[in-house]
Amino acid sequence: MVASDEAVYGAPPPELAAADPDAAQVSPLIPGARALEDLPDGGLARMVVQAPPGTLERRYALAHALRALRPDGQLIALAPKTRGGSRLAGELTAFGAEVHETARRHHRICQVRRPAAPRGLAEAIAAGAPRVAPALGLWSQPGVFSWDRPDPGTAMLLRAPADLTGRGADLGCGVGVLGLRVLENPGVTSLICADIDRRAIAAARRNIADPRAVFRHMDIRLGDPELAGLDFVVMNPPFHDAGQEDRGLGLAFISAASNMLRKGGVCRLVANIALPYEGRLNAEFAAARVLSQTGGYKVYEAVK
Ligand SMILES: C[S@@+](CC[C@H](N)C(=O)[O-])C[C@H]1O[C@@H](n2cnc3c(N)ncnc32)[C@H](O)[C@@H]1O
Repeated sequence: MVASDEAVYGAPPPELAAADPDAAQVSPLIPGARALEDLPDGGLARMVVQAPPGTLERRYALAHALRALRPDGQLIALAPKTRGGSRLAGELTAFGAEVHETARRHHRICQVRRPAAPRGLAEAIAAGAPRVAPALGLWSQPGVFSWDRPDPGTAMLLRAPADLTGRGADLGCGVGVLGLRVLENPGVTSLICADIDRRAIAAARRNIADPRAVFRHMDIRLGDPELAGLDFVVMNPPFHDAGQEDRGLGLAFISAASNMLRKGGVCRLVANIALPYEGRLNAEFAAARVLSQTGGYKVYEAVK
């Protein structure tokens, strides 16, 4: 049972939709949060959803919210107009809800009461559920980074030789594409696969059936004492936080990698050439060089 009979998904701006401070957090992007899928049917009086931008992911979250509400329970769903907000009212209407919509601060804010007999919840939940993505040949889920197609930056890093050995980490591991490549080398003794997205970690666990791999649902920026003295780090660092470009995030990943490595340890990463990572790499590592550059991406190797 949840402590409060309210849940919140994400971090809705409080001036647009206030969530109860005791509401159970159910966003997959918040380590320590409860799983949305584990909310019992019909238990909640109120839920506030900061709706995600991807259609399948958003309809999945809205359908779970309606499933978890009591009959007549209140749902407030909001999103920036250009990142799914303009579609919210139609999506909630299709679930059988009567929508009261307002517009503030470039957001669409929709309030509904759970209908007595919502329509299409099971279908929306099935459409957003984990599955094997054919183009990846791996477990994935809508909402996870590049969930249904290979990322070109990742593909470039995959072309680097699998020559890293010892204790390593895959920072921002996603569904585990880089980790699988690294583990092809029998000289790897352990690999910590870390990501802030619970869905990505769940998929990576299914994809990497290797006893050398361990999985951490965590925010890399906060560090972890276990991640120290490593021989190598691989990463395709994120540069979006909550859907907004945030170059500081990639820089924070570089600093985190540097802190985790032993002297002489190696960090291999791929980044869009427009991202200003050279300065931080040169400041935090003894040596950094470009291993390859093509198609708008660079693969760097930095030695601590
Ligand atoms: C560009 S994707 C790379 C994913 C995967 N390594 C690949 O190459 O396909 C960056 C990953 O970092 C994760 N991420 C974003 N911010 C994070 C944070 N603060 N801490 C840990 N992981 C984070 C995202 O969820 C995403 O899976």
